[in-house]
Amino acid sequence: MSRLAIFVVALALCGAAQAGGNAEAGKRKASQVCAACHGADGSKPTAPENPILAGQHPDYLAKALQDYKSGKRNNAIMKGFALSLTKQDIEDLAAWFSSQPSKLHYQR
Ligand code: HEC
Repeated sequence: MSRLAIFVVALALCGAAQAGGNAEAGKRKASQVCAACHGADGSKPTAPENPILAGQHPDYLAKALQDYKSGKRNNAIMKGFALSLTKQDIEDLAAWFSSQPSKLHYQR
């Protein structure tokens, strides 16, 4: 394969991984760790300093997690959790929490 072909295939694979988190997989991951602070579906945090995640835009959630991981957004608690997440975990968790009903988004 030419270098260009490899590059194109690699790009396509990245696109596929990004294209969508799996909400069911996210739900499983969330129940193990995140639920303790943010609530099982992200709508009822267990303390006022833990933000509501349910109904937040998936891109926002994914970016927040990536930024905690990279250190661009600095929070000692969330950095610890974000560091253990893969890119796929982040997409899955973002898909799960964003699809949950909450006060954050407009209810039709
Ligand atoms: C020990 C409690 C705790 C646990 C467990 C926890 N979080 Fe958090 N989370 C927080 C706190 C506190 C903040 C607010 C941090 C800040 O001010 O940036 C936060 C912030 C966030 C934000 C940013 C929200 C926003 O509105 O900007 C996201 C996204 C997030 N958490 C996702 C997760 C995920 C996904 C997990 C599980 C892998 C998780 N959290 C586990 C306490 C926790």
